[in-house]
Amino acid sequence: MKFANPFRPGAGHPPPYLAGRSTEIREFERLLEQPVILTNLVLTGLRGVGKTVLMDGSLKPLAQSKDWLWTGNEISETINVSEDRLAQRLITDLSVITSRFVVNTNVVHGMGFLPQREERPIVLDHDLLEGLYKSTPGLVSDKLKAVLEVAWHAVSGSGAKGIVLAYDEAQNLADRAEKDQYPLSLLLDIFQSIQRKGIPIMLVLTGLPTLFPKLVEARTFAERMFKVVTLDKLDERDRREAIEKPITDRRCPIRFTVQAVDEIANCSGGYPYFIQYICYEMFEAYLGPSDGVPNPGITVAHIARKLDQDFFAGRWNNVTDRQRDLLVIIASLRNPDDEFTIMEVVEGSKQHGKKPFSPSHVGQMLSTLSELGLIFKNRHGKYSFAVPMMAAFIQRQTEEND
Ligand SMILES: Nc1ncnc2c1ncn2[C@@H]1O[C@H](COP(=O)(O)OP(=O)(O)OP(=O)(O)O)[C@@H](O)[C@H]1O
Ligand SMILES: [Mg+2]
Repeated sequence: MKFANPFRPGAGHPPPYLAGRSTEIREFERLLEQPVILTNLVLTGLRGVGKTVLMDGSLKPLAQSKDWLWTGNEISETINVSEDRLAQRLITDLSVITSRFVVNTNVVHGMGFLPQREERPIVLDHDLLEGLYKSTPGLVSDKLKAVLEVAWHAVSGSGAKGIVLAYDEAQNLADRAEKDQYPLSLLLDIFQSIQRKGIPIMLVLTGLPTLFPKLVEARTFAERMFKVVTLDKLDERDRREAIEKPITDRRCPIRFTVQAVDEIANCSGGYPYFIQYICYEMFEAYLGPSDGVPNPGITVAHIARKLDQDFFAGRWNNVTDRQRDLLVIIASLRNPDDEFTIMEVVEGSKQHGKKPFSPSHVGQMLSTLSELGLIFKNRHGKYSFAVPMMAAFIQRQTEEND
C-alpha cells in the first residue's frame, strides 16, 4: 500500500508530529495545579500558529489525565447576539459532562423540581440544567451561577478536580452596547464570582491576538484573571522536527535532503501551517498525487509561489488600491513583522513618493484593515500584521510589479 502523505495543512487538523510547545504545555499544567482557581488561560497567536491543535491535542488530554473534566466549543458570531445565547451555549456544553452524573434528589428538590418517579436516579442532563436556569430568579448572571454551582455539585463526588470550559475562536466574543447585550462581560463576571466561591471551573479561551485586549476592555479585572500564553513561530530545532519526524517511518519512501529541510524551514518562517503546507506539497510532488504522476522537479520556490496564490493572494485581492498603498508602506518599514505605530506609518508614507497619509487617515484605514483580519491593534495602541509573513508577501508583490 502507498505510504499516505502524513502532512496536514488545514485549520485544526492535528499535525503528524506536534513540534515544540513544551513551555506552553507546562504553563497550563501549572494552572491545573491551583488549589483554588485564581488564574485562567488565554491561548493566543496569529492565524495558523497552532492554537486549536495545541488545545485539542495536548491541553485537553493533559487536563483529563489529571482528573479534570473538559468541555467546550467554538465561539461563533451568533453567540454574541445576546446574553441568553451565551447562557444556552454554556448550558449545552456543561450538560455534555453533567449528564453522566446522578444528582442527589435533595439538590433537585432544592431547585424546585419534583422528579416524576422518586426511585429513578436523576441525571443532570440538558433539560434539567435548562429548567434550573429558567426557574432561578434574578438576572442572567444569577441564573448561570446557579447552573454552574449545581453542575459542579453534581460532578464533585466523582473525584474530579474540576471542570475546564474551553472556547476556541474566543475573539468573537463581544459586548453589544447598542443592543444592551453584554455576553462577554457576563462570562467574565460569572467566572470571577464562582471562582471566588472556590468552585473549580476554569476558563480556557483561545483566539487571535485581539482576544486579550478585548477581555480587558470589557472588564479591567480580566487582566488579573488570565495567564496569557502566546504561541509563536517554531524555533530552528522544532521546525526541523516538524518537517522530518513525520517521514522517519521506515516504510516512508522519501526523505528530505538536508538542503530541502533547510529551505522548507526558512521558507515557512517557522509557522506551523506553512510547514504543513510546504511539506504536503513536496511530498505530493515526489510521490505523485493519488491521481497523477510525480513531479520531482518541483522546488520549494515553486511551492512558495503556490502558497502565495492559495493563502495570501485572496487576502490581498480583498483590499482597495489605497489600502494596498498603505500596506506597501507598512511592509517597507524597518521591521514590518514587529509592532508599528500610526506615526511610523505616516513618516514612512512621506518617503514613499506616493500621496502621503495623515495620522487620522492612517488610523481609520488601520481599523478597517483590522476588521478585514489583516492587522490587529494590541493593548498599547500599537499595530501588527495579523497574518504571519504578510510583509514578505507584499514585498514580493511590489518587486514583481516593479
Ligand atoms: N506544533 C506544531 N507542529 C507541527 N505542526 C503544527 C503545530 N501546530 C500546528 N500545526 C499545524 O499547523 C496548522 C494550523 O494549526 P491550527 O489550526 O491549530 O492553528 P490555529 O492557530 O488554531 O489557527 P487559526 O487562528 O486559523 O484558528 C495545522 O495544519 C496543524 O496541523
Ligand atoms: Mg484555530
